[in-house]
Amino acid sequence: MDTWRIRVGWIDKVKFEMAIQVIRPFFLSGITQIANRARGLRFPHHQASKSLNPDYSMVRPRGIANALWPRVGGRSNIALVVQRGSRVSRLLAQPPCWRAAYSSDAARSRPDVATHPQTVEINGNKYTTDPWFNVSSTVLSLTSRKLHLQKDHPVAITRKIVESVFPPPTYRYYNDFDPVVSTYENFDSLGFPPDHPGRARSDTYYINKDTLLRTHTSAHEAELFRAGASGGFLISGDVYRRDEVDRSHYPVFHQMEGARVWDRNTVPNGDLAAAVLQDLDRLPKHNMTVEDPSPPSHPDRNPLQAEHHTPEEAAAVAAHLKRSLELMVNEIFSRAKAAATAAAGAKNGTTTTTTAAERTEPLRVRWVEASFPFTSPSWELEVFYQGDWLEVLGCGVSKHELHAHASGPSRMGWAFGIGLERIAMLLFRIPDIRLFWSRDVRFLSQFRGVEDDLARLRPFVPFSKYPACYRDVSFWLRGASAAGGGGGAGAGKAAADWHGNDLMEVVRDAAGDCVEDVRLVDEFVHPATGRRSMCYRINYRSLEKTLTNAEANEMHGRVTRALVERLGVEVR
Ligand code: PHE
Repeated sequence: MDTWRIRVGWIDKVKFEMAIQVIRPFFLSGITQIANRARGLRFPHHQASKSLNPDYSMVRPRGIANALWPRVGGRSNIALVVQRGSRVSRLLAQPPCWRAAYSSDAARSRPDVATHPQTVEINGNKYTTDPWFNVSSTVLSLTSRKLHLQKDHPVAITRKIVESVFPPPTYRYYNDFDPVVSTYENFDSLGFPPDHPGRARSDTYYINKDTLLRTHTSAHEAELFRAGASGGFLISGDVYRRDEVDRSHYPVFHQMEGARVWDRNTVPNGDLAAAVLQDLDRLPKHNMTVEDPSPPSHPDRNPLQAEHHTPEEAAAVAAHLKRSLELMVNEIFSRAKAAATAAAGAKNGTTTTTTAAERTEPLRVRWVEASFPFTSPSWELEVFYQGDWLEVLGCGVSKHELHAHASGPSRMGWAFGIGLERIAMLLFRIPDIRLFWSRDVRFLSQFRGVEDDLARLRPFVPFSKYPACYRDVSFWLRGASAAGGGGGAGAGKAAADWHGNDLMEVVRDAAGDCVEDVRLVDEFVHPATGRRSMCYRINYRSLEKTLTNAEANEMHGRVTRALVERLGVEVR
């Protein structure tokens, strides 16, 4: 069997999605929302062994909002929180070629043709685009922010805490790899099959056919395995995914990748399992309650790479992996608990959002079987937080082919990937992912001095919550066919080409961080004409001030115009 091929789970999911697409137009909004929730299962990089879990991806910050505000739960997954302040000045700040591409005249005059700039500059490098280009100006403007490197930013503090558990010289740190990578690095080098859904333009930001904004830090694994400069490494960086957006989703977020490698040619007596167990013995212990009900591997669900690894080797590597990651989670949550306790004990009268139970109850974590194209067996680690199991990372025993191609067949080891915002939201109790991008001193000042003295870490104290302003927009799609995939930031979306992520992108670009979320509230197909109508409800709420009705109307007008110009919809 070709070990690079993804297993049946994805195929089932794809079939399931196709079925949803077929039945969807025949139901009114209630059913549609269930279908949308199912669509939300798409996760480009892995297949967890749980079925129908809406919080599918753990390596990005999905589902935190529900944990932090249980009453916010029950959203349709099509709900999107649009972010960043959509100041006109920000759009004007884009390079002229970009502005030209999105000028309304350009779009209006050629509504069928996706417009895009000829070239884009990202972190000082120029790239030539082609019709695959689908990066919005908003996302493009975030490629230089590098929150993981900003002193005292909660994302950077979280990175530092993770690094403290994986010390040099065994682990080397790589924090400044460019987010622009080749499709080879992001997918092929990791064994993603050519038809893997993660490659779709509806899910991934492409600069051109062969170049994209990395969707995960795993894109650099092969390169570092090839360099073989250390026994292990950590990579941190910004990663990009087109997706529905809500309070815990942003198209840009940060990941940390970790890997550890052993070489049969260099361990004593060539006994890799013994060497790994010896290293395991040297790791500290912890006293967390860990549930690990599944076997070390399973022939169908989570196979050993039997042609390349003995069961003893795989078991030793898995044990080292699991202890290392448990220590990391223990470190993070012990710090969160200490911060909550310190805040609760503070005499200055600030309210604390933590409960006594959270401060005193022992941390519970569990291992769940998973599947990634580049590890086997694979797992997710989940943490019990505020009454729910939350996925915090994905990991596994690296695929033999990855090592064999990159460095040599005698090597073996583990890798993991963790979403930093998700962890930071838990660690600092940050309720809205938009806040990470805020330059508001009321946000940033709360973390000053923490990076150099982690004992100063305290839960974030939210500033006022400003009122929501809801506005609906209803429109007809062009053409008469049912929903389909497809990306593209350009103008002219026919029904067959419609993808909710395109709408999310347009709203995000037009209204920025003043949009808290966007939900599909109604959808139907006209029985006579076959035309498809959709109604989205947009919640305009600034993180920084109360929006006036006039401001909300102005923003909504901008969004509506952008939908017409860029997606070619007909407003009803
Ligand atoms: N890159 C994977 C993701 O983003 C996570 C991962 C990393 C899984 C390393 C296994 C090993 O989903």
